Amino acid sequence: MSSDILNNLNPGIEDLHPYEPGRSIEEVVAEFGHDEVVKLASNENPLGASPKALSILKGLENDLHLYPDGNGAKLKEEIANHENVSFDNIIIGNGSNEILELAARAFLNPNTSSIASKHAFAVYKIVTQSSGASLIEVPTYNWGHDLKSFRDYLEPSTRVIFIANPNNPTGTYNNHEEVYSLLKKVPSSVLVVLDCAYFEYVTKDDYVKPLDLLDEFENLLITKTFSKIHGLASIRVGYGIANPSLIEVLNRIRQPFNVNSIAQAMASIAISDHEHIRKSIELNSQQNEFLFDQLTKLGLDCIPSVGNFITFKGNFSGREMFNKLMKKGVIVRSVDLYDMKDFIRVTIGTESENLKFLKALEELL
Ligand SMILES: Cc1ncc(COP(=O)(O)O)c(C=O)c1O
Repeated sequence: MSSDILNNLNPGIEDLHPYEPGRSIEEVVAEFGHDEVVKLASNENPLGASPKALSILKGLENDLHLYPDGNGAKLKEEIANHENVSFDNIIIGNGSNEILELAARAFLNPNTSSIASKHAFAVYKIVTQSSGASLIEVPTYNWGHDLKSFRDYLEPSTRVIFIANPNNPTGTYNNHEEVYSLLKKVPSSVLVVLDCAYFEYVTKDDYVKPLDLLDEFENLLITKTFSKIHGLASIRVGYGIANPSLIEVLNRIRQPFNVNSIAQAMASIAISDHEHIRKSIELNSQQNEFLFDQLTKLGLDCIPSVGNFITFKGNFSGREMFNKLMKKGVIVRSVDLYDMKDFIRVTIGTESENLKFLKALEELL
C-alpha cells in the first residue's frame, strides 16, 4: 500500500481479505448463460424461508417509514420463550456475525489476542484483527477443534476464545464434555464465544447443551442465527445469549436500530415454526447421509459433518473444481482461504439439487 491514508490503517487490517461470499445465482447466470443454476454455496436452507414467517411479509409494508423497535422487545420475548431463558439474557444482531463483532469490540484491542481453531469460521479473524488484536490459531485434531489443547495456547493477553460448534467449513463438532472441560480450565476473565449457527441440525446425543452452561459460566456467550435452519439469511438476524451483565455491556456498543423491522417481525414468527424446522432437519439428515455415501463412492475424502454442508477433498485444486462446476451451473464453495486448497464445501440441498451437483461433479472427475 502506498498512499498516505492507507499507511494510517489500524494494525491488523493490512493482511485481512474481504470475506468472500458465495457467488450469486444472478452473477453465474449472467456470466455463463445457464437456464438453471443450483446454488449450494452458502449453507442456506434449501427449503427456503419458514412459510409462517413468509406469510406475514406482505403486511409489513405500512410501517416502513418508522424506525424498528430499538430494543427488539417482541423478538427477544419469543427467543426467551424458545430458549427458556430470561429476556435479559438475550441480545439480537444483524446476523450472528454482528454479535461476534460486538464481542470483539467490547473485549479486544491492539494489546490483546483471541484464540480460535485453525480452519475455523473466517469471521473470527476479521473481527479480531479489525479490533487491532491478534489471532492465535490452535491446530486441529481430525479437522475438528482440539479443545483439550486450547488452554495451552492461552496467553496473558488473551481476552476471547471463539469456538464454532459445529464448525464451518469442516462440519465437525465438540461434545458437551469437551466444551465444559475447556470452560472449567479457562480463567473466568476470558470470554468464551460458543458459535452455534448450525445448532439445530446436530442430531448427536453428546452434542453440547449450551444453556446448561450458562448459570455456571458468566464468561460464556452463545450465538445462534436465523440464517440457517429458519431460512432467513437475507434478512440478517442472529442473537446472543449470556448472563445479563454481559448482555448489558454488548448493548452499550450496539447500533441503536441494528435489526430492521421486517427482520424482527419475520424472525419472531419463524422461531416457532416447528413444522419447518422439523422438515429442514429431516431433509438435511437424509441428504447428508446420501451425499456422504455418493461422494465417498466417487473416491472423494469427506470430512464427516453434523451441519448442513459437507467438505471433501479429491485429486484436484478446490478453486479449479469450483470454477468447473460453476460452468456447469452448480455453485459450491472453494475453501482455499481456509488453507484447505484441495477441498470443496457443498451445502446439502434438496434431493434434486444434490443429484444435479453429483452428476456435474462425476463428469468432471
Ligand atoms: C459458523 C458460523 N457462524 C456464524 C455465521 C454467521 O451467520 P449470520 O451472520 O448469517 O447469522 C456463519 C455463516 O455462515 C457460520 O458459518
